[in-house]
Amino acid sequence: MGVETAIFLPMNVLGIETSCDETAVAVVTGEKKILAHRILSQKEHNTFGGVVPEVAARAHLNHIDTLIEEAMAEAKLDFKDLDAIAVTAGPGLIGGVFVGVMTAKAISAVHGTKLVAVNHLEGHALTVRLTDDVPFPYLLLLASGGHCQLLIVEGVGKYKRLGATIDDAAGEAFDKTSKLMGLGYPGGPPVERMAASCGTPERARKKFPLPRPLMGRAGCDFSFSGLKTAVRRAVDAYQGEIPQEDIVDLCFAFQDAIGDIMADRVRHAIDIYMASHPAQPTLVVAGGVAANKALRARLEKCAADGGLKFSAPPLKLCTDNAAMIAWAGIERLKLGLVDTIDFPVHARWPLDPDAPVASAKSEKI
Ligand code: KG4
Ligand code: ZN
Repeated sequence: MGVETAIFLPMNVLGIETSCDETAVAVVTGEKKILAHRILSQKEHNTFGGVVPEVAARAHLNHIDTLIEEAMAEAKLDFKDLDAIAVTAGPGLIGGVFVGVMTAKAISAVHGTKLVAVNHLEGHALTVRLTDDVPFPYLLLLASGGHCQLLIVEGVGKYKRLGATIDDAAGEAFDKTSKLMGLGYPGGPPVERMAASCGTPERARKKFPLPRPLMGRAGCDFSFSGLKTAVRRAVDAYQGEIPQEDIVDLCFAFQDAIGDIMADRVRHAIDIYMASHPAQPTLVVAGGVAANKALRARLEKCAADGGLKFSAPPLKLCTDNAAMIAWAGIERLKLGLVDTIDFPVHARWPLDPDAPVASAKSEKI
C-alpha cells in the first residue's frame, strides 16, 4: 500500500448530526478548517438517566433550524456557497436521524446542494484524519454509547471488524454505573471525575474486586454486562446512601476494570493487525469513551508496547459532533461519492456488513 498524498480541495461542507441526544451542526472545509461548530446537548434526558427517543426527536426538531442559521452565519457562508451537505443517515435513534435527514434534504431541494449520507460510525472512525492527518490503514477501537468494536480501517467505506461487544457498549456501562450511583447522565464524565479523585487505588481494587468478562480469552470481542451486574450488586449491598469515599472507590474500580478489559482486547487486535499490516503501525481510539483520559493513557501504553503510534481525536471531537460528519462527507466527496435525494435512513448500519454477529457463542476460547 502506497503513502497517501494529502489532497486539500477548496470545498465547504455543512455537517448535520442528530442520531442520539446531541443536535449538532458544523461547517468544515476541504482544507480541514472548522468554520463553525455548534452542539446542543439535550438536557431533557437528565432526569431519566438515559436518552428517551421520542423526547430526543422533538428536541432535535425544535433546535436544528436555529443551529443551522447560527452555523452558516458563523462560517460567513450562504447556502449557495456550500459544495455539499453531509448528514448522519444512521445508525441511531431513527426519529432523530429522520429530523436531520429531512432538514438536509429540504435545503438540498431548495438550493440544489449535493447530499452525502454519512454513517455515524464512519464519522467517528475518520475524525483523526481531520485532526491528525492519520493515513490509511489503521487499527481502530471505536467505543461509544451504542458501540464497542475493534476494526481495521482500510479506507473510506472499507472496514474489517475484528471484534465487537456481545452485550452492552462501553459507554452504556459507564452510563449504567453512573445511574446506579446517582451521578447523572451521561455517565462517562462524572464517573471519570470520581475515579480521578481516588487517592487509594489499591484499597478501591480490594474493596470492589469487579469481574473482567472475556479477559484472557482469545479473540477481540467485548462483554460488559457482567461488570454492570457486579456494580449493581455492590450498590445494592448498601442499605441507605453510599458514603462518598465508597462512590469514589467504586468508580475507580469500575474504570480500572474497563481499562483492563480494553487493554486485553486491544492487545489481541494489535497482534492480528500487525501480522497483516506491519508497515502501518497505528492505533486509533474514537467515540465518546475515547474522551476518558485514564483510558486513553492505558491504550496509548498498549500502542507503545506493541510498537504502534497512537492517535485519538481531541476530547471535544470524541463525543458526538457534526464536524466529524462534515469531514466524513468531505472524504466521500473527494471520491465522488454523493447520494440522491431519496437515500434511506438506517437504524442499524454496520461498518463491516460481512462480519459475523458477535455473540457469546461466537466467542473463541
Ligand atoms: O460517541 P458518543 O457521544 O455517542 C454515541 O455515538 O453513542 O458517546 C457517548 C458515550 C456515553 O455513553 C458517555 O457516557 C460516554 O460516551 N462518555 C464517556 C466519557 N465522555 C463520554 N465515557 C467515559 N469517559 C468519558 N470521559
Ligand atoms: Zn457517536
